[in-house]
Order: sequence, then C-alpha cells, then structure tokens
Amino acid sequence: MSVTVRVPAKVNVQLAVGGARPDGFHDLANVFLAVGLYDEVTVTAAQALTITCSGPDADQVPLDRTNLAARAAEALAARHGLSPDVHIHIAKDIPVAGGMAGGSADGAGALLACDALWGLGSSRSELLDICAELGSDVPFSLVGGAALGTGRGERLTELEAGGEFHWVFAVADGGLSTPAVYAEFDRLHAGAAVPAPVASPALLAALRTGDATALAGALTNDLQPAALSLRPVLSATLESGMAAGALASLVSGSGPTTAFLTKSPEGARQVADALLRSGTCRAARVAASPARGAVRV
Ligand code: C5P
Repeated sequence: MSVTVRVPAKVNVQLAVGGARPDGFHDLANVFLAVGLYDEVTVTAAQALTITCSGPDADQVPLDRTNLAARAAEALAARHGLSPDVHIHIAKDIPVAGGMAGGSADGAGALLACDALWGLGSSRSELLDICAELGSDVPFSLVGGAALGTGRGERLTELEAGGEFHWVFAVADGGLSTPAVYAEFDRLHAGAAVPAPVASPALLAALRTGDATALAGALTNDLQPAALSLRPVLSATLESGMAAGALASLVSGSGPTTAFLTKSPEGARQVADALLRSGTCRAARVAASPARGAVRV
C-alpha cells in the first residue's frame, strides 16, 4: 500500500527579521502565503528507509537522512516506537534551495503520508509539534493558505486571504544557503539595534481584501539586502520583471528565487515570458495563491 500527499510551495509576502537570539535563530514576523506549485510525496512500506526523487531538479535533492522527508518519517516513527521502514518518493516540482520551502514541503508531506500509512491518526497539534522540530517553515507547509509565523516562524496564526493573487517565480542558477543569508543579515546589521519584527497592518488588510495593488505596495523582505549582497545578479532579475509590468517584485524568503506579483493570470504569463527572454533567470514559473496545505491525493 502507498500513500501520496501533495504539498504547496510558499512565498513570504512579509518577512520581518529581528536580531539574532541566543540560540542563533532570529525572531520573525513572517507572513506566509502558499502558492500553487506542488511536490508530491509518496510513501510505501519497505525493508528500510530509502528515498528517491524525480523531476527536473531531482539531482540537487539529497537522498540521505538529511532530507527533511526522511527526518519526518524518523521523528514520527520514534514517537510511536516504530521503525521508519518506508520508501519515500518525491515528485519534485518546487524549485530546489530557492526560498520557496520545497524541503519543508517534503518534510510535511512525508509526515502526513507516514501517519496515514502507519494508521496512527495523529492529531493536528501532534503533527504541528513534529513539524516545528523539523524546521521553522515546516508547520506552514502542513497548514497552507495564509498564516503569520512568529517565534522563529513556527508558531502560526492562520490568516484570511480574500482573493486570488497571481505570481511569477524566477528560478535562479544555483541555490542560496538559508544560514548563510541569515549570517549576512547579521553582518549587515552588526552594531545596529534591530527592531522587534511586527506584521504590517496594511499588508494584512491587503491580504484580507484580496487587493493585489495594495499587497504590492506592502510586500517587504528584510532578508532581501542580504540575499542581494550574496548574489548581486538578482537585481537584474528584479528589474526585468518590473520592466515587464509586474506590480511588485521581491526575493522569496532567503532566495535566490525572486517573486513578481501581477494583476492577472495573463499579466503573469507576460512577465514570465519577458523574464525568460531577458536571460536573467533559469526558469520562470506562474502560480496562483493561496493554495491548500498538505493533502492526501
Ligand atoms: O529552521 P530551519 O532549519 O529552516 O533554519 C535553517 C537556518 O536558518 C537556521 O539554522 C538558522 O541559521 C536560520 N534561521 C534563523 N532564524 C529563523 C529561521 C531560520 O536564523 N527564524
């Protein structure tokens, strides 16, 4: 028997970052929006824990125990005194190492799939606890929709998103390491007092009313200067998307994927075509938000 779970990517419409905490993490006001690009995680009973991956970027996905999908299976099995003997297959469509939480999506997907395969019937809050142990973005991958993440991003308050938003995601060559981007953030703020992160009321109102123009005016990412400092060529991608008519552009999470908000699905296709023609990105993907969280298919 196999169980397959579909899990969405995310974009951070606001990523407000505070100073480094004693544990090395940063307090966040992180407004997540799930977008309709999906990985599918299939688990099947096996002799031992193994992982395979398919998709255009499959060769960049680790197939060992560092993969969050493997860690999710191990964490759930350990809680129930089980052995995590399962084969995990990831059909990968979310850009890899791109700031769209693809690894976190696979963690949340494997967790939900193993819970069903093993007939455990874990409660939502038990699953969310394991997600939070696995990584700061993993709880949101389970929940989807729109949510405010506080703490290191793992404590979620669900938000209302009152309409559809249309996005283009420009996929860069190579990844960016999330810890390296946070370290660059610290370097850029060395000696300065970093204010406590707060969610923007204007941004939350724009989400609630589904107003793309207002959302465009309120998009912020405090990690963007750090990502651009490590990868200056991303500025050219951001400029190309704006020149093609995007309402707003920003680095997605810790990058290097860049996100462009547009008025309509047609607008998104135009911006995607222009980005590809500009030669400033490796691929351009069109997607709408919000999207459902992890769900069995
Ligand atoms: O939680 P996650 O494993 O995704 O975090 C990866 C890295 O990103 C952490 O080791 C840390 O360097 C950085 N991070 C952070 N503050 C957060 C989330 C992540 O500094 N709130």
